Amino acid sequence: MAKKELTIDLARCQGHARCWAIAPETFEIDEEGYGHVIDGREASFDEENVRKAIKNCPERSILIREV
Ligand code: F3S
Repeated sequence: MAKKELTIDLARCQGHARCWAIAPETFEIDEEGYGHVIDGREASFDEENVRKAIKNCPERSILIREV
């Protein structure tokens, strides 16, 4: 089975912070208000919560890639 990698495309993120509100165990917000995947969570995350965050990000900047 392919491994998955979670990323936020910072070229698209506009700082809506819904990722963090929905899945704070996986996402954090930097001092400028942009979302990031918490270090170490890129390949280890609650997929159900992350999929909710993906649906709720207005910029569609959260991505799960198969690597
Ligand atoms: Fe950015 Fe979307 Fe989160 S715009 S801060 S990735 S909800």
